[in-house]
Amino acid sequence: MRILGIETSCDETGVAVYDGAQGLLAHALYSQMQLHAEYGGVVPELASRDHIRKLLPLIRSALAEAETGSGQIDGIAYTAGPGLMGALLVGACLAQALAFAWKVPAIAIHHMEGHLLASMLEKPAPIFPFVALLVSGGHTMLVEVLGIGCYRTLGESIDDAAGEAFDKVAKLLGLPYPGGPALAKLAEQGVPGRFTLPRPMTDRPGLDFSFSGLKTAVLTTLKNAPHAAQTRADIARAFEDAAVDTLVIKCVRALKETRHRRLVVAGGVGANRTLRARLTEKVKQLDGEVFYPRPEFCTDNGAMIAYAGYVRLRAGAKPEPRSVSARWPLDSLAAP
Ligand code: KG4
Ligand code: ZN
Repeated sequence: MRILGIETSCDETGVAVYDGAQGLLAHALYSQMQLHAEYGGVVPELASRDHIRKLLPLIRSALAEAETGSGQIDGIAYTAGPGLMGALLVGACLAQALAFAWKVPAIAIHHMEGHLLASMLEKPAPIFPFVALLVSGGHTMLVEVLGIGCYRTLGESIDDAAGEAFDKVAKLLGLPYPGGPALAKLAEQGVPGRFTLPRPMTDRPGLDFSFSGLKTAVLTTLKNAPHAAQTRADIARAFEDAAVDTLVIKCVRALKETRHRRLVVAGGVGANRTLRARLTEKVKQLDGEVFYPRPEFCTDNGAMIAYAGYVRLRAGAKPEPRSVSARWPLDSLAAP
């Protein structure tokens, strides 16, 4: 079974071809980062228009790379939400039009389910059940995953998402959008321990997160500290340490509470090297295992959508008439 996957939920146009027997045959990504950089964030209308321009050429090049003709495609998976309405509609409309023309099913995929399953594109792939940490620009969640479509939210951010916090703190430090990777780079030059920031909500039970107070603590520290390049690097380091510690503490707690021994990390912040190193060390101490997608599949991509479409179709999913949704709770999904 060979699936074409389409991702257009935000500012990345992603396309991929996944084959059940041969694995990932091709993936192509176009990032709109440059387009939105001058505005300091994603401009939804510009995002939609750029997806329209880039999607069809990307599909052509992915099919060519996969040496696949339209007759060899058995289904089309597309991101149906959550995300920006206009951006989602571009992918959904094209997916449904192609599916109609090629007489194959169009499968609506939840963007976060795509992220959740992305590490299954790697070897060794995690097996069910596991706990997943989803850390992206829009979401921070701990999820118990029992199988495809069997998701239970254990905790989530009550305010800013982890990636959003990285981006906002990066902005405070004068770094360009998107700030997460730039902040991580600056933090590498920072002296650990010069500044200490809070680890929000770790001193009380529960698995929810809160990152907006941490951002305010950075602002206060920045105002009171001497202006120097090293100060900025040291604050970046203090922020990264605090954010990573907070995520690691909650992951360990979730593993202990659910008694699962496998942790899967997904979403853009999952590309953060400090987070990967500390989680690996801590989970090992618990005699558990941690799985990550390769960094390029932590951030938005078409491969995770093609793969999610493949597992759903293989499990018997039928195309259902559904529109796109800007909001779509992960817990509301069902097994195919
Ligand atoms: O999953 P993603 O590509 O998009 C969403 O679905 O939101 O995540 C993007 C987020 C951004 O906030 C970005 O700054 C953050 O992931 N990010 C990072 C790193 N790479 C991307 N944050 C920290 N360290 C990184 N290396
Ligand atoms: Zn995402």
